[in-house]
Amino acid sequence: DKQLIIAIDGPASSGKSTVAKRIADQLNLIYVDSGAMYRTITYVAIKEHIDLTDEKKIVNALERVSIEFERTEEGQSVFCNNKEVTDDIRQNDVTNAVSIVAAHPLVREVLVDRQRKIAMKQNVIMDGRDIGTVVLPDASVKIFLVASVDERAERRYKENRQKGIKSDLTKLKQEISERDYKDSTRKVSPLRKADDAFEIDTTALSIDEVAEQIKKNIFEKY
Ligand code: C5P
Repeated sequence: DKQLIIAIDGPASSGKSTVAKRIADQLNLIYVDSGAMYRTITYVAIKEHIDLTDEKKIVNALERVSIEFERTEEGQSVFCNNKEVTDDIRQNDVTNAVSIVAAHPLVREVLVDRQRKIAMKQNVIMDGRDIGTVVLPDASVKIFLVASVDERAERRYKENRQKGIKSDLTKLKQEISERDYKDSTRKVSPLRKADDAFEIDTTALSIDEVAEQIKKNIFEKY
């Protein structure tokens, strides 16, 4: 049996993780949230008051940090050295700092290596920015999700409201655009659609519609 490897990339809040979790459930795949790994080391660096531009110190910290995922009813929990950090890594301070940490080549080297190891022996769906281009260039299926900034900010706004977090739509728009800019202009592994990726604009689509399109693509190619 050939291993099934699905790579989903795209800008911030384009719906990658929601749709990846759904497909993982339906097709019984392991879901790997690579963004959560960058978020976790960023969280640790902030907590340990490490200068975020100090690549060496961050890599040092990363070597002492284990990052594990656990499947739950609602989706997925993230553990850092056996302590749950699922909510901590979604806080604003981490979200607005993660792109600085993720731009360090040596940080990426360590995490890409870990991501490849997870994907080595099982059927996986992995989402991020460079999965189809760098981490898993031989993936069976590559998807690139896009959506307008307005739509993505709107989704994030609603999500926050459901969680009881107050947010400002204009500020969300700014933060999303800024993160996109940093992620797509960095020197190492910038956010980019792989040449052989299938692009879906999710602006006017429901989660179900996106999942259906992706599954169609999987069944055509795999
Ligand atoms: O996917 P998510 O928005 O949680 O990712 C958080 C950040 O981690 C991104 O904005 C990006 O800076 C970084 N990231 C990355 N490469 C990946 C996944 C995430 O650089 N494969």
